Amino acid sequence: MSTMKAVRIHAYGGPELLHYQDAPRPQPRPDDLLIRVRAAAVNPVDWKIREGALRGFLNHHLPLILGWDVAGTVVEVGPQATGFKVGDEVYSRPDIERDGSYAEYIAVKASDAALKPATLDHPHAAAVPLAALTAWQSLVDAAQLQAGHTVLIHAAAGGVGSFAVQLAKARGARVIATASAVNTGLVAELGADQFIDYTRTRFEQVVKDVDVVFDTIGGDTQERSWRVLKPDGILVSVVSPPPPAIAAAHGVRSAFVFIHPSGAQLAAIAQLIDEGRMKPIIHTVLPLSEARQAHVISQGGHARGKIVLHVAD
Ligand SMILES: NC(=O)c1ccc[n+]([C@@H]2O[C@H](COP(=O)([O-])OP(=O)(O)OC[C@H]3O[C@@H](n4cnc5c(N)ncnc54)[C@H](OP(=O)(O)O)[C@@H]3O)[C@@H](O)[C@H]2O)c1
Repeated sequence: MSTMKAVRIHAYGGPELLHYQDAPRPQPRPDDLLIRVRAAAVNPVDWKIREGALRGFLNHHLPLILGWDVAGTVVEVGPQATGFKVGDEVYSRPDIERDGSYAEYIAVKASDAALKPATLDHPHAAAVPLAALTAWQSLVDAAQLQAGHTVLIHAAAGGVGSFAVQLAKARGARVIATASAVNTGLVAELGADQFIDYTRTRFEQVVKDVDVVFDTIGGDTQERSWRVLKPDGILVSVVSPPPPAIAAAHGVRSAFVFIHPSGAQLAAIAQLIDEGRMKPIIHTVLPLSEARQAHVISQGGHARGKIVLHVAD
C-alpha cells in the first residue's frame, strides 16, 4: 500500500493530538477525483471535530485526517467521475464525513470540486471553498439576499465574514459589519458600508430594521440580534440553531445552515473571484507539519481571514 504524509488524530482532544505522520494514500471511489494537495485551509470545524464536539452529529472513524478545504492538481479520475481530466487545477470543500485535506493526497467526489479560480495560486484558492460556500448558502440560498437589502454581518473580518461582506456587496446589498477596531481598514476594503467595533459599541444600539442578520458568533450576539431585524426579516446562523419560537415572538424568520459541498456553487464563486469581485484574505500560511500551531491560532478566535497549510509547490 502506498503511503503519504498526513496530519491525523487517533483520539479526540487538544492540538497536541494532531500527528504529522505517514498514512495510507486514499483509494478513490468510481465517482472521485484523486487530488495531489497543494494547499489546505483550516476552519473552526476542524478543531471542533478534533475536540470531539461533533461526535454525535458526524460519522467519523479514527484515525481521521482533518481539513475540509483543498486546492490541488487532479492526478486520477474515477471511471464515473465527469467534468475533469488529469492535470486540472481544482478546489473543493469535500465531504466532511471522509478523510480530509491535511495530507499529500485526497479523494474527492467530482461533483464536489470545481476548477480553481484562474487568478489565484493554490494557497489562496484553498482559503476559499468552505468559508465562501458558507457565505453563499447562508446569504443566497437561506436568506435570499436581494439588491437593496440591508444585512448585518457579524465577525466580518473572519474567514466566513470576509467572504460574506464581499458576496453581499456583489449582490447589491447594503452591509453593516462588526469586528474589532484593528480590522476597520480591512472591513472597509472588503466593501462594508458601516463598521461597528463590537468591543466599544453594542450593535443593537445603532442598528435597526435590517433585512438579514448573518450570525457567525451565536450566544449573546444571536440573542441581541433579533431586535435589529425589520418585521419578516431573517436571522441566519451557522453557529447555533436559532429557536423558531423566539423568531416568531419577534415577528421574524430564522434559519440554521450547515453547509454541504457543491462544485456548481464553487464554479460560480470562482467566476466572482476571477472577475475581481471577491478575494480571500489570508491570515497566515504555515507548512502542513505545523497544523498544531494553525489550530492554536484558529482557536484563539481572532484570525483575520483564513489560515492556510502549504502542502506542496
Ligand atoms: N454551520 C456551518 O456550516 C459553518 C460553516 C463555517 C463556519 N461555521 C462556524 O462559524 C463560525 C465562524 O467561522 P469563521 O471561519 O469565520 O471563524 P474565524 O475566522 O475563526 O473568526 C474569527 C473572527 O471572529 C471575529 N470575532 C470574534 N468575536 C467577535 C464578536 N463578538 N463580534 C464580532 N466579531 C468577532 C474576530 O474579529 P476580531 O479579531 O476583530 O475580534 C475574527 O476576525 C465558527 O464557529 C465556525 O465553526 C459554521
